[in-house]
Amino acid sequence: IHNVIFESSLEASTIVAQEIASLIRDKQSQGLPCILGLATGSSPIKVYEELVRMHKEEGLSFSNVVTFNLDEYFPMDKHNIQSYHYFMHEHLFNHIDILSENINIPDGKVPTDELYQFCIDYEMKIKSYGGLDFQLLGIGRTGHIGFNEPGSHLNSGTRSITLDHITRVDAASSFLGIDNVPRKAITMGIGTIKSAKRIVLLAWGNNKAQIIQQAIEGEITANIPATYLQEHHNTTFVLDHEAALELT
Ligand code: F6R
Repeated sequence: IHNVIFESSLEASTIVAQEIASLIRDKQSQGLPCILGLATGSSPIKVYEELVRMHKEEGLSFSNVVTFNLDEYFPMDKHNIQSYHYFMHEHLFNHIDILSENINIPDGKVPTDELYQFCIDYEMKIKSYGGLDFQLLGIGRTGHIGFNEPGSHLNSGTRSITLDHITRVDAASSFLGIDNVPRKAITMGIGTIKSAKRIVLLAWGNNKAQIIQQAIEGEITANIPATYLQEHHNTTFVLDHEAALELT
């Protein structure tokens, strides 16, 4: 793992957006699709803002971009404003020229008896494109990436999981109370994420400092799934000053 530390999350997000933009342009010049794995939550918001700005002001086109989102709550209707489907359209997809058929987000409304097959198909669809060229990640206080909570297997694929209590506590305010936070989610697996050719994990602020220290400097363990990234050959942790405070 490489880590880069910036004074501000804004500056860091601009650099990450530039890396994504140059990957998109590079693939465009070769006539290839660009396969992006995307995250929701507070961490990537400024990256998406900058990509939207580049689309509007610099003509960055997303016509060759195919996206796969990491996760979605389950059950969750896509029209619900708490859904990750809604989040992605609000922050990115509604403002760029991506083709709607190129957007992939786990369906939080898939019938329970079709869930297993849905997850297999999601995984196969990523593979059919030759895997993810770039995966953007945040990190939860449990050490989750995607919604791979503690206990997740190194080789796990897309599947349904039970959310950790701490994750539900952290989501409680946006759901107006923990009782409204779904207990389950669909998430890409650790294996899915680790197959990406390039991974960038974002973490901002004090409350991520402890888990960032464990993720980067701790031993590799299923108890902190982000430690699995230590074995990936092309991962960068992009941090602001506060998230990096506990690193030795
Ligand atoms: C979201 C996701 C999660 C978040 C993590 C951090 O798609 O996969 O792993 O990245 O919970 O969330 P924020 O950025 O809100 O601190």
